[in-house]
Amino acid sequence: MTASISDALLDWYGRNARALPWRVAPGAPMPDDPAWPYRVWLSEVMLQQTTVAAVKPYFEAFTQRWPTVEALAAAGEEEVMAAWAGLGYYSRARNLVKCAREVAARGGFPATEAELRELPGLGIYTAAAIAAIAFGRRAVVVDANVERVVARLFAIAEPLPGARKAIRDCAEAITPASRAGDFAQAMMDLGSRVCTTKAPRCLLCPLSPPCAARAAGIAESLPVKPAKKAKPERRGTAFWIERANGAGREVWLVTRPGRGMLGGMRALPDDGWSARSDGTGEAPVAGEWEPLGAVRHTFTHAHLTLAVRRGEAEPEGAGEWWPLDRLEEAGLPTLYAKAARLAIARGGWNDA
Ligand code: ADE
Repeated sequence: MTASISDALLDWYGRNARALPWRVAPGAPMPDDPAWPYRVWLSEVMLQQTTVAAVKPYFEAFTQRWPTVEALAAAGEEEVMAAWAGLGYYSRARNLVKCAREVAARGGFPATEAELRELPGLGIYTAAAIAAIAFGRRAVVVDANVERVVARLFAIAEPLPGARKAIRDCAEAITPASRAGDFAQAMMDLGSRVCTTKAPRCLLCPLSPPCAARAAGIAESLPVKPAKKAKPERRGTAFWIERANGAGREVWLVTRPGRGMLGGMRALPDDGWSARSDGTGEAPVAGEWEPLGAVRHTFTHAHLTLAVRRGEAEPEGAGEWWPLDRLEEAGLPTLYAKAARLAIARGGWNDA
């Protein structure tokens, strides 16, 4: 029965695979191109916690600018961080550069799961995905989509995260010896398009005949998730400090410290909200501050309301004056891009 499951799935994949820029067609051999593992690795890192639609333009931009792992290894960390701006989870970008340098130094990506696990930023999932997709090695690839498909197929009713061991064992049992990359991606496609969280489309599903949850009429309720904790509300303030420079205008930007939230990214100076969280922080320099309103942003662990204030001040400490007409190139993460849009929409104070 396990072989018939993988056969049915691969057959479905042959007819329904999504064409994605980091994939080969179902059943096609892996390209004989040294950049192939690089493209698979890059896509898998970008796809962690991020949708296919959000990743596509970043994948295209990165592979055009840095077509090989050697090219990425030679890039400056700041350049890569700026190019990553907007994708979120910025520790991925820092690890990306570290990993590229390590891989370039060792002359290419290793092919085994165990060796891949030793690279910066590669966890169990990513190492298995690269081993399977880039090197055709049999590996058990379990992301949230696969978890859902397997929990339903075998009617695993134990709540997550406790169910993970049983899910992995069942995934192991249905993983075929060959076409490992196609099988992993077929499971992902089935999970995202057919075996969806809400209203699974069982009538279209190639695994409907052997699906235990479908037979029991409980597909929609699986996997059982632990109750979600409410995200805390945090408050902070960002400061928009602008000056005229010749015909143009400039804004004062800082680079956030390497560790911690949005670490290493360019940002507006702020009151230290990420460390304090209670909205009682101080302005980075003394000055008269005009309130411009606030922006909202949701992180994995919290909601943030960031007030934006504009003022005339002589900034202190490390930072740079950045031309407003080139602000797109600063690589501001989404939170600060929203704050900048608000400040610009409210007009530069030099405009008067
Ligand atoms: N999510 C993570 N990896 C993926 C892949 N290779 N294809 C589609 N979705 C994915």
